[in-house]
Amino acid sequence: GEKGLWGARFATGPAEAMAALSKSTHFDFRLAPHDLAGSRAHARVLHGAGLLDEATLQALLAGLDALEADVLSGAFVPAPEDEDVHSALERALVERVGADVGGRLRAGRSRNDQIATLLRMFLREHARIVAGLVLDVVEALLTQAAAHPTAAMPGRTHLQHAQPVLLGHHLMAHAWPLLRDVERLRDWDARAAVSPYGSGALAGSSLGLDPVAVAHELGFTRSVENSIDGTAARDVAAEFAFVAAMIGVDLSRISEEVIAWATKEFSFVTLDDAWSTGSSIMPQKKNPDVAELARGKAGRLIGDLTGLLATLKGLPLAYNRDLQEDKEPVFDAVDTLELLLPAVAGMVATLHFHTDRMASLAPQGFALATDVAEWLVRQGVPFREAHRVSGACVRRCEERSAQEDRSVELWDLTVEDLAGISPHLTPEVKDVLSTEGSLSSRDGIGGTAPVRVAEQLEAAQDALAGH
Ligand code: ARG
Repeated sequence: GEKGLWGARFATGPAEAMAALSKSTHFDFRLAPHDLAGSRAHARVLHGAGLLDEATLQALLAGLDALEADVLSGAFVPAPEDEDVHSALERALVERVGADVGGRLRAGRSRNDQIATLLRMFLREHARIVAGLVLDVVEALLTQAAAHPTAAMPGRTHLQHAQPVLLGHHLMAHAWPLLRDVERLRDWDARAAVSPYGSGALAGSSLGLDPVAVAHELGFTRSVENSIDGTAARDVAAEFAFVAAMIGVDLSRISEEVIAWATKEFSFVTLDDAWSTGSSIMPQKKNPDVAELARGKAGRLIGDLTGLLATLKGLPLAYNRDLQEDKEPVFDAVDTLELLLPAVAGMVATLHFHTDRMASLAPQGFALATDVAEWLVRQGVPFREAHRVSGACVRRCEERSAQEDRSVELWDLTVEDLAGISPHLTPEVKDVLSTEGSLSSRDGIGGTAPVRVAEQLEAAQDALAGH
């Protein structure tokens, strides 16, 4: 007998390998609640267009509700011969309400506009969940910043000691990118909030349906301007995958630092037992696995994005079956982030910072050389000359370090050392040769002075509360 959605034109069913290749229920059935919501909305516009009488509409809606209950309870699962979520649910509906009722629902829609709509619904729902989880990481960073208002650490460029910074300043430098990622998800949602339902296979519908009514019922702000675009475009999925990859990269950059900070050599942090792992052979080990998995999963998220872009490249308009490959990358991105973000939040929230060690290292490695140069500028010396003089101070420290076989830092230079380098280097320069002096002098907007960092924390907390 005739089977499936196109049986009449075919003498035989699909070959086994053809059906196996074609099948997507094992990953797309998670869209079932969205498919059923779309079907309810579609039934109503068919009724609104005079194509379903009231009794048929009510029978369809009751059948869809009952099917939804069975989907949610697990009582209904796709059969092996169902190709995709749409065909599985349509088969189940027809079985429940009969072909004369259930068979009317396919009018004026195609799986092409259905899947494009469902994917947007799914991603919009999960964009909100992911944004909330990103904000939990931001909150953990800000709580740590607030708990250490005066802690200093070595600020680095090229991984070398550069200038002292406040720990809170550094932690918030990880929070702001994550806040921007949340903004990116919001901006993305404005573009995702447009419904392709009503585009049909590619050319729209002749049945006088109301795509805007469907759009509104499904939580979209409007429907697409172009039915070809509506069924063939996947930039909305690619953009989502980009933001997901960006979140992964931002988490990976935090994680790389945590991994370094937890080494014996840095000894900046101790990881909480609940957020680290041991070794089966080395009893002393405490490993930063959350951070390492975050770093690893960032690669996976980048792969999701590049795989999807590779699928889209070169596809002619309109729908092509290649587009069935759009779902697994974004599903994987969602699942990865929803697994990863709570663990990163927990790891960050429970980091124990060794602030004494960080503070003692903060000014070392000549990290106050810029302070010497800027002190000279304030005395009226041109910066190029000030830079040269300060560099000569560092050189003098290195000479003495070699002679004396110990580490001689800038604050160890004598009045004679300084006078020998430049007449501008009066003993008062020693006033800026402290971490506290260096930090508090950087009091321009966005700087690391404690007064500025306190303001910044308030701004970040406001941004967090505003989301
Ligand atoms: N399962 C398909 C997809 O995920 C949707 C169905 C469209 N199939 C088709 N042969 N036109 O893209």
